[in-house]
Amino acid sequence: MSRNLILAGNWKMNKGPAETKAFLTDLQKELKMYPPCHKEIQEEQLKILFFPAFVSLATARELKETNPQSFWDFGAQNCHWEESGAFTGEVSAEMLRQAGAHYVIIGHSERRHVFGEPDEYMQKKIKAALEQDITPILCVGETLSEHEEKQTFQVVERQLVSALKTFDADRVARDIIIAYEPVWAIGTGKTASDSDAQEVCKYLRDLLARNFNRNTADSVPILYGGSVKPANARGLMAQTDIDGALIGGASLKTDSFLDIVKACLGDS
Ligand code: PGA
Repeated sequence: MSRNLILAGNWKMNKGPAETKAFLTDLQKELKMYPPCHKEIQEEQLKILFFPAFVSLATARELKETNPQSFWDFGAQNCHWEESGAFTGEVSAEMLRQAGAHYVIIGHSERRHVFGEPDEYMQKKIKAALEQDITPILCVGETLSEHEEKQTFQVVERQLVSALKTFDADRVARDIIIAYEPVWAIGTGKTASDSDAQEVCKYLRDLLARNFNRNTADSVPILYGGSVKPANARGLMAQTDIDGALIGGASLKTDSFLDIVKACLGDS
């Protein structure tokens, strides 16, 4: 079976509404002038996604809705599992739906390691997102010390199983995206080698097969994230079990993001 390619830009705490508008307007123009990706997008072989800050979601939505031929979609970087209430600073999945988001990143390493979010949160966030028809991208990955202690498989297994254990196989097959993001590779310029990234993504796919079934495992897109750039994107995306990339730094400039798109479509 062939899974589609997903190239997702995680903007983190960058780009307010004005910069979001400038970036997406420019990107839209550039993609229009790059026909090789039109067919891929129309045939749903390629998805281009952006994850702006909460305050920039309305800008992304406006640009998408006023442009009949937008080549991209957007989502949010996090959500809370309750619909509303006394949770200062939080945004619910219900609010994200109202804001037009179709995707949400869950359990990004910065949420886990900078803001101390434990594994138990992820299942609740995923449930809340699914209830609003928002597709969660569940991030898993080991820290540098876990990597050095050869704990990678145990860590990603614990993170994946605890986040997905209450969902049935059909739901996971239809509505979940996974991103393997080794923490030591995020924003460091160090990337996992093609074969190491493939090995962990294959481990995750086999884990899905063991916990659900082979059809589910073959349906779930598994992305790689961690210092993806134009020079390494093609090799990573050529791996059997890597279906796309979650891109931080290199998604902030139109040129480098487009160069990744072109490299992945075999045009460098
Ligand atoms: P990076 O970030 O591409 O800047 O390493 C990836 C991510 O955090 O999703």
